[in-house]
Amino acid sequence: MYSLEFIKSRHSVRRYLDKEIPKEFVDILQEEIRQCNLEGNINLQLVLNDDNAFSGMRANYGSIKGVKNYIVLVGKRCKDLDEKLGYYGERIVLKAHELGLNTCWIGLSMLYKKTKGAYEVNKGETKRLIIAIGYGENQGHPRSSKIFDDVTNIAVKEIPDWFKNGVEYSLFAPTATNQQKFVFELCKDGVRLKDGVGFYSKVDKGIVKYHFELGAGTENFNWIK
Ligand SMILES: Cc1cc2nc3c(=O)[nH]c(=O)nc-3n(C[C@H](O)[C@H](O)[C@H](O)COP(=O)(O)O)c2cc1C
Repeated sequence: MYSLEFIKSRHSVRRYLDKEIPKEFVDILQEEIRQCNLEGNINLQLVLNDDNAFSGMRANYGSIKGVKNYIVLVGKRCKDLDEKLGYYGERIVLKAHELGLNTCWIGLSMLYKKTKGAYEVNKGETKRLIIAIGYGENQGHPRSSKIFDDVTNIAVKEIPDWFKNGVEYSLFAPTATNQQKFVFELCKDGVRLKDGVGFYSKVDKGIVKYHFELGAGTENFNWIK
């Protein structure tokens, strides 16, 4: 569905223009979010034109500037919540990229403050992180990456093309502090994805899982738990 060139052309963007997201794009994003929430039993929410979250002291803290629109990643507390938020959050990130919008995952909650009434966190739910979205001052920059051998463990004689493609797509997935602490094990009966120890490594796992599926094609393999 998405070409490797398309995946490669997405970079995190941290500085945003004061430019509204057009209504037709908002509708497309809301529909994608609705589908993700339904499939994943989560509660992602798009917040638009919030002048408060990144204002005051926070307007000049870190490298994030001008964010007014963001997606809040909320879900019921459960063992695999972070992985689900990563998986579906990245689906929204790539949909936004398709619309020509820029994004940046933001885990550090000290970078923004809660705006009363901007989003809901229901009983039993937790808010884990957000994704900034909008028109960037620039398109971001390519960054360094691990290579195939760093992130794979092969237990079969021949490596199929779908596996190579899945790994390649995953190497261009965003991870917290670009840590890329994941390993794909190729076994006779499928693929096992292992996350490393690190901040948000379970969110990273979900993001990378989504990229791998896009590159490999879900019809070609099974995930091994
Ligand atoms: C789970 C997660 C949390 C992140 N948190 C932050 C953050 O708090 N601040 C920030 O500037 N970037 C954050 N990032 C962006 C990463 O630093 C960025 O994705 C990584 O350096 C790779 O660069 P790329 O997205 O341009 O490929 C986060 C990314 C992920 C996946």
